[in-house]
Amino acid sequence: MRLRSVSPTAALAAVLCIVSALADAEDKAASAVSGQELKAKTDYCKTCHGLAAQGFRGSFPMPRLAGQQPEYLQNQLQAFIEHRRTNPVMFNVAHVLKPSMVSALATYFKDLNPKPLGGATKELVPEGKKIYEEGVPSANVPPCASCHGPDAKGADAFPRLAGQLHDYIFRKLTNWEKERGQNRDQPDTSAIMQPIAHDLTEAQIKAVAAYVSQLE
Ligand code: HEC
Ligand code: HEC
Repeated sequence: MRLRSVSPTAALAAVLCIVSALADAEDKAASAVSGQELKAKTDYCKTCHGLAAQGFRGSFPMPRLAGQQPEYLQNQLQAFIEHRRTNPVMFNVAHVLKPSMVSALATYFKDLNPKPLGGATKELVPEGKKIYEEGVPSANVPPCASCHGPDAKGADAFPRLAGQLHDYIFRKLTNWEKERGQNRDQPDTSAIMQPIAHDLTEAQIKAVAAYVSQLE
């Protein structure tokens, strides 16, 4: 028989090789997120963030997640978990997510592209555009476009603002110091926005929020 000519060592090596390949496959299955698991989770996110993740206005505005930069989205989930960004609802949502689910969610939301929810005062848009593109030199506020991009789509840790709910943006910028960067021992990217949020007047925030909220 031909098998007899195979040395026992070679046969053992072949078996070990197959066993380790099976173990690798099992590891991958354990860390990957199935389509079904991801759908169940995103259905849950959409109960608050809107059916197409375009945001939702309930008793207060829920932010748009559609088209958001994956790195920013992951950073925020981590910030909620570590109480650097204070929000009890999102702490509960985020702290149960395994790392592979966090990255699957970030990729999923990046690819959605629904129309902006809108609803801002149209008359404010031209003034908002000017602030977005030129900043407010007299108050040392740099152009938003220099970090959030000319079309407000963001990049990496700089969030997309295009299509974001104007009332959500207004609330975040007027409360920045109470909600973001709340762990003094663990400074984070929120520090970059702190002086900018601080130096804008409420009227300027309303205008720039109106402008970006209608961008697609
Ligand atoms: C029960 C309602 C609820 C559910 C469910 C929910 N969220 Fe949220 N989420 C919120 C609220 C409210 C905020 C705004 C928090 C704030 O104002 O700082 C928020 C904020 C966020 C932010 C920050 C957005 C930004 O622009 O900075 C991210 C990211 C996020 N949620 C992701 C998710 C993901 C992913 C899921 C599903 C796994 C999810 N959320 C499920 C209510 C919810
Ligand atoms: C120097 C770079 C820089 C400039 C200029 C800048 N931003 Fe930001 N912005 C950031 C970074 C970084 C973050 C993310 C902060 C974090 O990780 O918590 C951010 C976050 C934000 C958020 C929170 C988004 C969300 O979904 O919660 C808003 C709103 C915002 N910026 C608006 C503006 C506006 C309006 C301007 C112009 C007046 C502006 N930014 C200028 C860097 C910048």
